[in-house]
Amino acid sequence: MRENSIFRRSLLACTVFAILAGCDSSPKDAANNTSSADQASSAVESSKVEWPVIKSAIPQDAAVEARIDELLARMTVEEKVGQMIQPEIKQATAEDVKKYHLGSVLNGGGTTPNNDKYAKLSDWVALADSYWHASVDKTDGRAGIPIIWGTDAVHGLGNVVGATLFPHNIALGATHNPELLKKIGEVTAREIAATGLDWNFSPTVAVARDDRWGRTYEAWSEDPEVVGAYAGEMVKGLQGVYGTDEYFTDRHVIATAKHFIGDGGTLDGVDRGETQGDEKVLRDIHGAGYFTGIEAGVQVVMASFTSWQGTRMHGHEYLLTNVLKERMGFDGFVVGDWSGHGFIPGCTALDCPQAINAGLDIFMVPEPEWKTLFHNTVEQVNSGVISAQRLDDAVRRILRVKIRAGLFERGAPSTRSLAGREDVLGSAEHRAVALQAVRESLVLLKNKNGLLPLSRNSNVLVTGDGADNIGKQAGGWSVSWQGTGNTNTDFPGGTSIYAGINKVVSEAGGQVELSEDGSFKNKPDVAIVVFGEDPYAEMQGDVANLAYKPRDQRDWELLKSLQAQGIPVVSLFITGRPLWVNREINASDAFVSIWQPGTEGQGIADVIFRNAEGEVNHDMKGRLTFSWPTRPDQFLLNRGDADYQPLFPYGFGLSYQDKDTLGDDLSEEGIALGETVEVLEIFNRRPIAPWDIEIIGFQNDREVMSSNTLSLSSLSIEAVDRNEQQDARRVVWNGKGVGQVALGTANRQDFLSYAQEKSALIFDIKVNRAPTDKTLFRLGCGSYCASDLDFTEKLTALAGKEWQTISIDLTCFPNAGANFGVTQPPEEFLTQVLQPFSLLTSGELDITFARVRLERGAATGQCQ
Ligand code: BGC
Ligand code: BGC
Repeated sequence: MRENSIFRRSLLACTVFAILAGCDSSPKDAANNTSSADQASSAVESSKVEWPVIKSAIPQDAAVEARIDELLARMTVEEKVGQMIQPEIKQATAEDVKKYHLGSVLNGGGTTPNNDKYAKLSDWVALADSYWHASVDKTDGRAGIPIIWGTDAVHGLGNVVGATLFPHNIALGATHNPELLKKIGEVTAREIAATGLDWNFSPTVAVARDDRWGRTYEAWSEDPEVVGAYAGEMVKGLQGVYGTDEYFTDRHVIATAKHFIGDGGTLDGVDRGETQGDEKVLRDIHGAGYFTGIEAGVQVVMASFTSWQGTRMHGHEYLLTNVLKERMGFDGFVVGDWSGHGFIPGCTALDCPQAINAGLDIFMVPEPEWKTLFHNTVEQVNSGVISAQRLDDAVRRILRVKIRAGLFERGAPSTRSLAGREDVLGSAEHRAVALQAVRESLVLLKNKNGLLPLSRNSNVLVTGDGADNIGKQAGGWSVSWQGTGNTNTDFPGGTSIYAGINKVVSEAGGQVELSEDGSFKNKPDVAIVVFGEDPYAEMQGDVANLAYKPRDQRDWELLKSLQAQGIPVVSLFITGRPLWVNREINASDAFVSIWQPGTEGQGIADVIFRNAEGEVNHDMKGRLTFSWPTRPDQFLLNRGDADYQPLFPYGFGLSYQDKDTLGDDLSEEGIALGETVEVLEIFNRRPIAPWDIEIIGFQNDREVMSSNTLSLSSLSIEAVDRNEQQDARRVVWNGKGVGQVALGTANRQDFLSYAQEKSALIFDIKVNRAPTDKTLFRLGCGSYCASDLDFTEKLTALAGKEWQTISIDLTCFPNAGANFGVTQPPEEFLTQVLQPFSLLTSGELDITFARVRLERGAATGQCQ
């Protein structure tokens, strides 16, 4: 019965959308008929697939081409190759720009001028100026081509404190509002222009098929329809519209459609994995954003890390050259993704003619040794491994984009109209657009007895760890790369969800109490609980199944305890993808998916509360562009599947006038799936919640690591690469006094069941330098019950060796049994684990660690 009404609503939503977004013109039918099974089939008919021929809104211009001819005729091989090398700002100085004729630079997620998280707009502009002046230097007959600087403003200007951060793409999908996307593009372009930068690595036009993928939130939809309807609008917003006054002015930036192609379709949803399906799937599912993006004039396409049919996209000549450039007529340039060329067989990040020959035009090469790539490429041109023709084609494309974007005429970044303008960054006008996006993106999944919207003058309890946490509501690519390690003060001008609620309710004479754990002084009329996924950007968000926090039931317990006290519960769920939350939905009277709304938390109160007159203030407008799972193992669940059994189908979303029929009896059995987790990850590329990394110096100085490096009196720590970016941490003790590094949490964790089930604590370590003094491995559980193992000999023996995996049976820790779980009061204050992993010494020591986990049943029965 429930299903019928759900399906009816979903159809309605699609009709509305069809009118707004032109459903009919997108390759909807193909998408609808493609089941996951079809996707998995091999490319039998590859050669018969016809890709569309696309006419870009930006025509080729004979005068521009003549200007390029003239420039190319004057440029040396070195100057040309320099245009094709893009280092990261941490690795490139203005002198480098001049000496190597660099055509572009980028700042990666979390990289800022002078490594200053709080760099001012003037710092950005000054650095942009210094690069620019070096690039246009015409001494010694140099062509003096203006440099461009690219950045990831994927939901607003993520790297700059104070910027307007929009809801992530998954939320924007739910708005079904292409016009809004254009406005967001315009605002984003203006805030980028305030830094003096010229180029955005956005939009992401991924179609996310397997929701285990950690970048699902960067996709507008699981279906090409919305992605196609949005991509072109976003491009128009960022670059402007050809033939109008609003076209590549100094308030616009170059847009990038990424990641070409099939990034959202990998096996098991693994980031950077192997895209599934035949060429028809590539075209009909994953192509949509490129079609409308190119039509709207997008000037850059970023190659994907992924591979298809065994070939890495950075080296895929057929798709990059024959399909994208020749057939689809894309005449801008193809940029690589973070040394992605290095994964082509036979290549390294510093040596890869294969990528250029396949059709890559710019190497994104954040490596410190990027100069080697420059020299190798020059040599490969000189020896003919890369043809002069291919070289000229790549550089022609780069120059074409720069000329079209007006960069030859624009002058130094600091001379542009918005450069350095603090009043532009996070302006009220910009925040209003983000606020609109928040209001339109909320999806109401349950509304028992019409609990929502609430009256303003109620007595409200606001609780949950997302209630007053702008970092959590902003998600990845927010101030820091993964969006972690920030506090509310890192988002000046932004509003937490609590702050928004507090404003609305107190103005109307109601009462608001904020408490993270759900306790209260006055019994509230209603509890609003804000909880959900913690931020992640790329790679780190991949999950094994869709169960929400299977081993951490605190949110669920909180909901249940409030309901048990007779308090109606409104759940506001922060998430980057649909997750299996049947238990939490059952324990809620109203349940809203608020996605990752960004800095304007106010938008939520605007919708969930009635206006002062008691009328609906803003209706619930969001409609799912992702199918919501009935079970945790429904990660491949997409509209049009042959056996489609979602809990909430694509297009679903209640309005306030809808009468909800959902009961409190959704199956809770699926959790067994999540429970099979035998490995408790404590650090896997980053500390896994609830754990943080903390270092403690000898001067009683202690700090949680919240950026890439941290230094205290007796030790320092830095995020370093082992197999992937920043998947390890290097810790160096300086011998000035005792120093400790720990993976710790403020909430005691019960390890008793692990101890009883013969588990081991396992971690990977590389000892770069042996300890000069006694070194302890400590399992911490508060001041009185730490359990120490002497690690001096072990670490000394490992010094200078390659990575090693160390496994310690939990029972090897002295007093183990007593320390791991709650025993009898009052011991419970001393027991349970606070720091499952920590090392301390007064001497000098240099180690790197990665992957710290607890594995059930992995004990060997031997200690040391
Ligand atoms: C990201 C960058 C980030 C870097 C950190 C990359 O994969 O794309 O933006 O700065 O990793 O190492
Ligand atoms: C990401 C891209 C991003 C680039 C630069 C890569 O790791 O995949 O989306 O644009 O880094 O930060």
